[in-house]
Amino acid sequence: MFNLNERVIVLTGAGGGIGRATAIALAKQGATLVLTDIDAAAAAETTALADAAHAAGGKAVCIRHDVTSSTDWDDVFATVQSRWSRLDALINNAGIMITVPFLDLTLEQLRRQLEINVVGVFLGAQKAARLMIESVRTQGNKPSIVNLSSVYGQIAGPTHTGYGASKGAVSSLTKGMAVELAPLGIRVNSIHPGPVKTSMLAGAIHELASRGRMASGDKGFAQVAKGHPMGRSAEPEDIAAVIAFLCTDASAFMTGAELRVDGGYTLL
Ligand SMILES: NC(=O)c1ccc[n+]([C@@H]2O[C@H](COP(=O)([O-])OP(=O)(O)OC[C@H]3O[C@@H](n4cnc5c(N)ncnc54)[C@H](O)[C@@H]3O)[C@@H](O)[C@H]2O)c1
Repeated sequence: MFNLNERVIVLTGAGGGIGRATAIALAKQGATLVLTDIDAAAAAETTALADAAHAAGGKAVCIRHDVTSSTDWDDVFATVQSRWSRLDALINNAGIMITVPFLDLTLEQLRRQLEINVVGVFLGAQKAARLMIESVRTQGNKPSIVNLSSVYGQIAGPTHTGYGASKGAVSSLTKGMAVELAPLGIRVNSIHPGPVKTSMLAGAIHELASRGRMASGDKGFAQVAKGHPMGRSAEPEDIAAVIAFLCTDASAFMTGAELRVDGGYTLL
């Protein structure tokens, strides 16, 4: 039920943070991986780590890919089609966060977040779904699309208004796609992490510290950790495990779900 042997999975933003941890988790479950990132060198490093973690030896390929580019997406899926003729999961993980108070948020900053976090998900999911429909017909598989949203797609956060708008849109896209794609055999769910210890969180802490809104560096991380009933922030592996679950048949009856994975952060 939790096995991903012979499953072909495309993962974006694989070069770091949650993406890298997810690649390793999926490799351990036996998946065949297409790991993409705008940072080709980082994606290549993740590919080597995933291959080393794979029970049956290397099964990952990496592709440089900007999720805002429709032609880049076509190249990714052309590789999938020509090599495996099946697609079992797409994980829309690539994303950016620009931490800035609403009154200082520029149109360019808002557009950049919408372009990567929303348009990127739309492009990938639509093109993946077309391939998955064919895959269901020829292989009888049960494909899954997993979209990385955030708790800030559900609640407000100071300095997160633009980012929150993009992640709220990811939730809405997910639900709409879940309804339309369910009859075609494709599941679509979103994951909503709280703060996760990656370079994205480090950047936000740095930005907020420079505005005098929180402590910097390790003290800033400790301050964030204290906001959790569980007493710690998420490690990337905490999120990777839930993403992996949504790729397996163990989640076969889940679609349109918003999975909050935040150690109780939003309960307080
Ligand atoms: N870290 C957190 O606290 C947190 C919390 C909630 C949700 N998330 C979401 O989880 C996802 C992963 O975040 P992370 O913390 O691992 O971030 P990260 O910054 O560590 O990694 C993001 C990856 O996306 C890649 N990327 C950026 N723009 C891209 C583009 N245009 N095309 C392709 N790749 C691109 C980067 O090169 C990087 O490797 C994001 O969607 C983020 O919004 C993160």
